[in-house]
This record gives sequence, C-alpha cells and structure tokens, in this order.
Amino acid sequence: MNLFDLTGKKALVTGAAVGIGRGYAVALAQAGADVAVVDLDEKTGRKTAEEIRSFGRNSLFVRCDVTKKEQVDAMVAAVVETFGRLDIGVNNAGIGILGGDENFSLDDWNKVIGVNLTGMYLCAQAEARQFMKQNPVGGKIINTASMSARICNCNASYNASKGGVVEMTRMLAAEWGAYNINVNCISPSYILSPMHASTPLEVRARIRELTPLGYVQRPEDLYGPVVFLASEASNYVTGLDLLVDGGHTLNAWLTPLGRTALPRVSPEQETVQLKHDLTAMELPFDENGINESLHPEIADAFKTAFGL
Ligand SMILES: NC(=O)c1ccc[n+]([C@@H]2O[C@H](COP(=O)([O-])OP(=O)(O)OC[C@H]3O[C@@H](n4cnc5c(N)ncnc54)[C@H](O)[C@@H]3O)[C@@H](O)[C@H]2O)c1
Repeated sequence: MNLFDLTGKKALVTGAAVGIGRGYAVALAQAGADVAVVDLDEKTGRKTAEEIRSFGRNSLFVRCDVTKKEQVDAMVAAVVETFGRLDIGVNNAGIGILGGDENFSLDDWNKVIGVNLTGMYLCAQAEARQFMKQNPVGGKIINTASMSARICNCNASYNASKGGVVEMTRMLAAEWGAYNINVNCISPSYILSPMHASTPLEVRARIRELTPLGYVQRPEDLYGPVVFLASEASNYVTGLDLLVDGGHTLNAWLTPLGRTALPRVSPEQETVQLKHDLTAMELPFDENGINESLHPEIADAFKTAFGL
C-alpha cells in the first residue's frame, strides 16, 4: 500500500492558474487525484486545467473570487457536481501589496486581508461543510501561509494575514477534528512564482547565500509537502504549520553561509516553472530577474536599490 497514493481523490486548489497553486495542482494530479483549478485568471487557469487533463486526470476550471462568499459556495458546489465529492481543499490564493506601513491605505489593507485571510476562511468553511456531509470519511484542508508569519520581511498587512492563516488553521483543526477533517498549512519562503518574479539576480544570489540548502525555492519544492498533507500519510497530523524554507529562517544572523557541496538545484533549474507560468500568461521572461511587466512598482524599487 502506498500511503501517498491519491488515486480517486477529488481536490480543488485556489490560485492554481500559476505559481505555487499550479505546483500544488500538478503534484496532486501526479499523485493520482482529479484536481479543480480555481482562479480569477480564466485564460491561464483553463490552460492549467488542460495540463492536468494531459496527466490523465479529470480537471475543471472554476472562475472564483475567493473574497466573495457566494462565489466560493458556488465554486465548491460546481466542483462537487463534476467530481461527485470533495476530499482535498487547498486554499492558496493570495496577494501582496508593496508599501511602508506609515502610509499604507485602508483600502490596500482590506484587499490583502480580504484575499489572504478572509478568502481562505470562506473556502475552508465551504469545504468543511462538504466534508461534513461526506462523513465518516471527512477530508483534508491545506492553507498556504508563509514564513512571513514568523519573520518580518514584507509589511503589516501581508505578515499579519499570514500569521492569521497559521492561527486560523490551528483553531479550525481543533474544531473540525471531530468531523475527521484535518486542517494544516504550508509556509514557503521565497518562491519564484509570478508573485515573486521581480527578483534581480543579486537578490537571488543573496537568498542562496543565506539559505542552508543553497538555492531559491521553486513551486516544485512543495510537491512532497502538499501530497503528504493531502494523503493518508498525514492522517494524524492536524493544526500543523509545515515550514518549507530550505532552512532560510534558521540563519538568524543573516550572514553568508559556506557550502561544501553543490546545491541540489542549479540557478537555471530554479526558474523552470516561472518561465512556464509567464509563457502561459503570455508575458516575457526576463533573464535579469526584473520582470517589469508583472509588478512594475516592485521592479522599480529593486532597480533603485541596486542601481540597475
Ligand atoms: N511567492 C512567494 O515567495 C510566496 C512565499 C510564501 C507564501 N506565498 C503565498 O503562496 C500563495 C500563492 O502565491 P504565488 O507566489 O503562487 O502567487 P502568484 O501571484 O504567482 O499566483 C497567485 C494566483 O492567485 C490568483 N488569485 C489572486 N487573487 C485571487 C482571488 N481573489 N480569487 C481567486 N484567485 C486569486 C491569481 O490570479 C494567481 O493565479 C499566496 O497565498 C502567497 O501569499 C508566496
């Protein structure tokens, strides 16, 4: 018996058109699950659903804004109508808005908290209600938090939203264990996704230097963790914040670390999915890591900081 086998399982992943969510969707499908791709970006999301079908799994795209309760409820209903049931809900859609806190607008604060915290809560609620109907089998909920719940690296809206996801995960795990529902979260570090595409080569080199495992994280590095939390292998694991950061947050002094072996992943391999995602979004890939077309304001900040 393969404890990690997801054959026959029915999953949904939010924010799955590109980036981390696409990585989760691919991993779950490769482990055997049928996977619904849920996103605001219909054009790219449909391409991702097509890729999932190319692995021989069933898939559908559902357009849904996770901040809207009626859309979230309708999304879960649409997935159940197609798949007949739901076993795994991966709540991953998230955003970040750059800016110092002294002038951060209330509107931007509400946007970030709305997607990252309220959106995940609405999805978890709708999934849990479906799992409760399917008892005694229950189900697995996996939220994307971040190492930003533990370190101060962005701004209050983003970091507070991720701290909120960790505590929400623990509370829901405590409440819904009674229904055989496991609720866990995954906390990545810096992942080369469209969200984090503006990372000049100097920044990538610095991340490699400061990270014990020596390379910049890719969506592929979450394949194992998400399959573990979705599978029977984690049946007694609940309320966990699974930090997947290559040891980045262990380096409290933020000093360059020496290496004795080449890292498992080369700089070229770090960007494989990012190139894929930008192509799917019909955007250019910038070898210098600036990727101006996605987040001009972040690109500008880096260009100023590095004199590029
Ligand atoms: N990239 C990183 O370095 C990093 C690190 C730690 C945690 N995270 C978290 O991982 C998650 C995924 O991030 P990513 O880097 O893949 O981001 P991304 O921007 O590359 O992709 C996010 C996807 O979510 C979708 N989305 C945004 N708002 C939505 C909404 N309201 N409803 C439905 N879909 C919506 C977007 O269309 C997009 O397809 C987020 O929660 C993010 O905070 C990212």
